[in-house]
Amino acid sequence: MNTDSSITKIPDKHDLYELCVQNPEALIPLLRAIHGNDPKALCEDFSGTSILSHTWADLSESHHAIAIDLDQEALQKHPAHPRVEKLHADVNDATASGDVLFVGNFSIGYHHTRAELIAYLKQARSRLQESNGVFLCDTYGGEGSFVLGGVHRPTPMGDGRLCRYTWEQRDADPLTGMVTDVIHFRVEHAGNIIEEYDDAFVYHWRLWSVPELRDAMLEAGFAEVQVYAKLADAIDDEGNAYISPVEDPQDELDDSFIVLVAARVS
Ligand SMILES: C[S@@+](CC[C@H](N)C(=O)[O-])C[C@H]1O[C@@H](n2cnc3c(N)ncnc32)[C@H](O)[C@@H]1O
Repeated sequence: MNTDSSITKIPDKHDLYELCVQNPEALIPLLRAIHGNDPKALCEDFSGTSILSHTWADLSESHHAIAIDLDQEALQKHPAHPRVEKLHADVNDATASGDVLFVGNFSIGYHHTRAELIAYLKQARSRLQESNGVFLCDTYGGEGSFVLGGVHRPTPMGDGRLCRYTWEQRDADPLTGMVTDVIHFRVEHAGNIIEEYDDAFVYHWRLWSVPELRDAMLEAGFAEVQVYAKLADAIDDEGNAYISPVEDPQDELDDSFIVLVAARVS
């Protein structure tokens, strides 16, 4: 989570999204540990501002990333990085290759039909290193997955201001799997509302279940699929993650959960 106070001067919705939603410093150790063989090249599909790619490329001079998004404003949020290539493109047309291909914050749900999902996954598989490439995406599930309502989280902005982040599930149809998820931000100082961003981001997604993703990944040609809980405490002080696939869901997953689904090329 970015708590750099310099971004709080004139926050736009992308600044607030990075502050309240993203945590690349915690995510990257998980991606590297799940890959397991010192990956250097990241493809970040549906990248938004590409902050994950920037943070990845900052790991060392041999790390590099390709970020792909349809939103040019989001892609241009951060200045150019010598080891981050940004592609203003549809991920369905992407050919960029890497060791890890990551799709974050439930963006796999932009594929609304199984045919679209499998076509994308086949293409994704062809973009990964034949020896040890890994495709990773997240999804949510469990008893709350089709429940309507909001989750609120206050996030300090580092200069006395507070951003109240709301995740709202506005619509959810368990018969079609379609959901409408909405993000709102409210910036406050000393109890006063400074700025409000209602409906800052509105997503119409298919909420794919873990077994649906697993079946589609195997049908798309991946050799093996594993599921990992997104555990913050899996990371030690040096930023190394120790994580193993979920073996006992009743024991290891909460009633409502977020997981990373990993599909291995070989
Ligand atoms: C939920 S945001 C994800 C941002 C970031 N990856 C994260 O983990 O928080 C989804 C992003 O997907 C982009 N997007 C949606 N459909 C796309 C497509 N077909 N090709 C490329 N980008 C797409 C949107 O512009 C938006 O920036």
